[in-house]
Amino acid sequence: SEKESLYLISEFARDYFHRVLLEEEEGKAIGGTYFKERGFTADTIEKFALGYSPQQWDAFTLAAKEKGYQIDLLEKTGLTIVREDKQFDRFKGRVMFPIRSMSGRVLGFGGRILSSEKKAAKYLNSPESPIYQKSKVLYGIYQAKQAIAKQDNCYLVEGYTDVIQMNQRGLEHVVASSGTALTVEQIRLVRRLTNNITLLFDGDAAGIRASLRGVDLILEQGMNVRICTFPEGEDPDSFARNNTLDQLQDYLSANTQDFIRFKTSLLLQDSGNDPHKRGQTIRDIVQSISKVPDAIQREVYIQECARLMDISEEVLFNSLAQQLEKSR
Ligand code: CTP
Ligand code: MN
Ligand code: MN
Ligand code: MN
Ligand code: MN
Repeated sequence: SEKESLYLISEFARDYFHRVLLEEEEGKAIGGTYFKERGFTADTIEKFALGYSPQQWDAFTLAAKEKGYQIDLLEKTGLTIVREDKQFDRFKGRVMFPIRSMSGRVLGFGGRILSSEKKAAKYLNSPESPIYQKSKVLYGIYQAKQAIAKQDNCYLVEGYTDVIQMNQRGLEHVVASSGTALTVEQIRLVRRLTNNITLLFDGDAAGIRASLRGVDLILEQGMNVRICTFPEGEDPDSFARNNTLDQLQDYLSANTQDFIRFKTSLLLQDSGNDPHKRGQTIRDIVQSISKVPDAIQREVYIQECARLMDISEEVLFNSLAQQLEKSR
């Protein structure tokens, strides 16, 4: 079938980029040096089948055509771009991160630029194709699935290198949404393995906003969500790289909050003593609680919120009833 051909091409591409990284001069000199500077070991490069795509504008396309793959299928994977009579590679001079499905098929790629002064996007990703829909994949799910089930928890991070560096430190139950806003399909992938998600977001404003959006979606799926943020300017990659496994685990256990505590402290930072804003904050949290499908769980959350906000449960239950009425 066509889809099977696209998987085979993607797997050929994974092997090709990986071989270039390990065996060709340009790959070793540029890609190999880059990964070494990031602290990635040879084992890590193997585990995630990392690669390098040459600077030459059609190196991959030529290799794939030589292997007998048809140009229209190469174009469908997005690895080759066809414009009039020209055929060229989408990824040039980038280190390559293959993206795999839960069952291990290669669906697409992320490619990172090496030099920071270039104007091009830091990461380039495969376009949507019959086998790659970015809203339905989680980077690292194939390598993480057993550990997620065993730990009965899934760490959800933003980026490829966060997954990889945490793995290298010894935490394997990690997947990345790859910079896109979290989707219901991604959450359902995790739900096949565990009911518990811990959001680990970058210590910047964008990261915190992204985690707030994700919280309600996860609650709507009937799952438990906790949040851990990193110090300003850090992400799980940099933190894992600069700390031991013990330090990383200590940081995670000391800074992971349930979503009510997280929202309360975050929103209260903004509202201070302004009673109007405080009221808005409480409605905001009750709004999140109203997403929880299970009534008993909602009650537990209301009790927690009442304690943290120093407000009566009765008032909160009334507000919750209003929210539930509205969303019916
Ligand atoms: N991303 C993307 N395109 C960009 C920037 C980011 O697709 N131009 C996605 C990538 O999947 C990236 C994730 O968003 O891994 C998180 O972005 P960011 O925090 O900026 O990158 P890092 O993962 O920290 O990447 P690095 O450490 O390599 O700079
Ligand atoms: Mn190998
Ligand atoms: Mn970021
Ligand atoms: Mn980051
Ligand atoms: Mn980073």
